[in-house]
Amino acid sequence: MGSPDSHTATPGKGPVLLALRYYGRELARLRLLAVPGMLLPALGNIGIYYAAPLVVAKLVGRVADDADVTLGSTLPYILGFAGVLLCAETLWRLGLHCLNRLDALGIERLYVIGMDELFAKDATFFHDNFAGSLTKRVLSFASRFEQFVDTLTFSVLGNVVPLLFGAVVLWRYEPLLVAGLLVMIALTAVCVVPLIRRRQALVGLREEAIARVSGHVADSLMNMDTVRAFAAEEREAAEHRSRVAESRRLSLRSWDYGNLRIDTLVAPLSVLTNVLGLVLAIALGAGGNGVEAVVVAFTYYTNATRIMFEFNQIYRRMESAMTEAAQFTDLLRKPPTVLDPADPEPLRPGPADVRFEKVTFAHAGAEPLFRGLDLTVPSGTKVGLVGRSGGGKTTLSRLLLRMNDIDAGRILVGGQDISRLRQADLRSLIAYVPQDPAMFHRTLRDNIAFARPDATDAEIRRAAEAAHVTEFADALPDGFETLVGERGVKLSGGQRQRVALARAILRDAPILLLDEATSALDSESERLVQEALWRLMEGRTALVVAHRLSTVAGMDQLVVLDHGRIIEQGTHQELLTRDGAYARLWQHQSGGFLDGGPTDAAMDTVTEAVTDGSSTAGRLVGSGPADIKPTGSTLTVPKPAGSKPTDITPTDVGTTDVGTTEAPPVDAGPTGTEGPDQPSADETSAHDRPADPLGAQPR
Ligand SMILES: Nc1ncnc2c1ncn2[C@@H]1O[C@H](COP(=O)(O)OP(=O)(O)OP(=O)(O)O)[C@@H](O)[C@H]1O
Ligand SMILES: [Mg+2]
Repeated sequence: MGSPDSHTATPGKGPVLLALRYYGRELARLRLLAVPGMLLPALGNIGIYYAAPLVVAKLVGRVADDADVTLGSTLPYILGFAGVLLCAETLWRLGLHCLNRLDALGIERLYVIGMDELFAKDATFFHDNFAGSLTKRVLSFASRFEQFVDTLTFSVLGNVVPLLFGAVVLWRYEPLLVAGLLVMIALTAVCVVPLIRRRQALVGLREEAIARVSGHVADSLMNMDTVRAFAAEEREAAEHRSRVAESRRLSLRSWDYGNLRIDTLVAPLSVLTNVLGLVLAIALGAGGNGVEAVVVAFTYYTNATRIMFEFNQIYRRMESAMTEAAQFTDLLRKPPTVLDPADPEPLRPGPADVRFEKVTFAHAGAEPLFRGLDLTVPSGTKVGLVGRSGGGKTTLSRLLLRMNDIDAGRILVGGQDISRLRQADLRSLIAYVPQDPAMFHRTLRDNIAFARPDATDAEIRRAAEAAHVTEFADALPDGFETLVGERGVKLSGGQRQRVALARAILRDAPILLLDEATSALDSESERLVQEALWRLMEGRTALVVAHRLSTVAGMDQLVVLDHGRIIEQGTHQELLTRDGAYARLWQHQSGGFLDGGPTDAAMDTVTEAVTDGSSTAGRLVGSGPADIKPTGSTLTVPKPAGSKPTDITPTDVGTTDVGTTEAPPVDAGPTGTEGPDQPSADETSAHDRPADPLGAQPR
């Protein structure tokens, strides 16, 4: 069971530590790049901010002591100054060279790890989490590694290592200079931390407001057709304006807090520190080094106090990087439930019969849908699964695919328990057409070939022809190379179904699992596609879900599911004779639903067509009543001899679909405060950078 996805949820300590472990592992793996990449810029900073000024201080001291200074006598200092700066620049370039590779390789690996983790998740996970949010989380998990490493390199090591160097140098002049500097830095940290915490709360409010804006934008854009249809543009625009205004108000509050509260405290403390350094250097005479010590103290204090303005930034950047990374690792804390067994059984060749044995299953957080369900589909049999909407037809198909694990009982394919097989092996046996076939935003050809990437063009073409895809594909601007749009929006519902069927045909698997595979087709197209399907089903085990009963009337067996229970089972004719739930559905679909009761004439035609198989509509030969062998609650469908396809079309019986056949979109996308792409946290905001020139960044 999972809670609904929430983008704004702040992950706890566990996920943060887990994210740190992932990042730490990358640093360790890439240590040959990490060590120079993170240390060389810090060493470069020593050169630029401490060693070069030291040379200048020595020169100033020399000039102060010696009245006869010539260019020649100062040349070593000048060369030394240039040399130090050149070395520092070289260290920076080398460091950045390594750092760029560290970032790139680390991000690459984390992208792969993140996606692998998501591929391992089960179906429930994807029902509980929005695709837009998952996309953002998995991408941020990888990309925030750069911010993490850069903040460590430039803001932490880039300040602390030179500060240590500066402290050693100052110590040599006067230990009190070091004490003064460190005390002032520590004092600033103590004063600023509570303010940073307070600001964090404001940043949190601001981020939530931004998430509300992007959630609404995504929601409106994705439902633009509905907005237009209800002439709701102005209403949606007004809602947008109000959310944006709220976001502006909260953004200003957090920015102002950074500028007016935190930096106004840091600025005087920084000034005070600098003055203190100068006073200490003068007052103490710095061990007889007079002018030189004053210059060193002045420049070192100035440079060292930059770190005071960085506290806020370091905290903010690290916090935002780790929060985003942890939003992903939070998803990993609950391990996937549908797993390959540690010691999987190899697939045994043989007949592909399907058996559900005392299957009990409940959707997460719901009452059990199936309680001890038994159903046997012998190899080579075609079974139609019908019944009211919500009866459990789709769920049953998905359990066979092991999209979810059952709570009790067994599902066997070819006599093998599916939980003992590798998931890939199990699914290689099944060609599945889902109720709402989604397309990849790839070419039509790629969408069909997805079922079997090694298929030849001729095989793809044959499958497309059988599923009557060629009919419309050839008319598309780029034929089979046409991109079908996100989720296949450029295709009609019926066209998408034909592509999904072409996939199933190409898959060439021994078990066919069709969930409302032809429901969106018009009668004529359905008849044509059905012919292809019947050919395909020849010799295969088929489980076919349909609301349009004429689609499955000719199957060897029909199973009527209601509230997760099999309430009837038999051939079309037997079920009509029984005059139960199936017969009532059939009557509705053959005219009664529209007329208030089936007309005798209509029913006669239908029954005739179904029973004697002599009508122009075609023939139907199903198993006779004697073939049904109910054993307790178990119903076994025998393998019929010489089943033939039926050509009964919806036109023959005056089709009316029963119930709702539309499933909700698999990916409802972000709603409410969900946003696929929240603007990133404020670390890049100019408003959060130190406004004081003393806090200017070296890079
Ligand atoms: N992911 C899910 N989480 C919770 N409940 C679910 C989930 N999917 C389906 N259900 C519930 O399980 C029941 C059976 O749904 P299922 O989709 O299997 O019915 P169906 O017979 O295929 O219906 P339809 O004919 O409308 O396609 C319904 O009550 C549905 O609300
Ligand atoms: Mg369904």
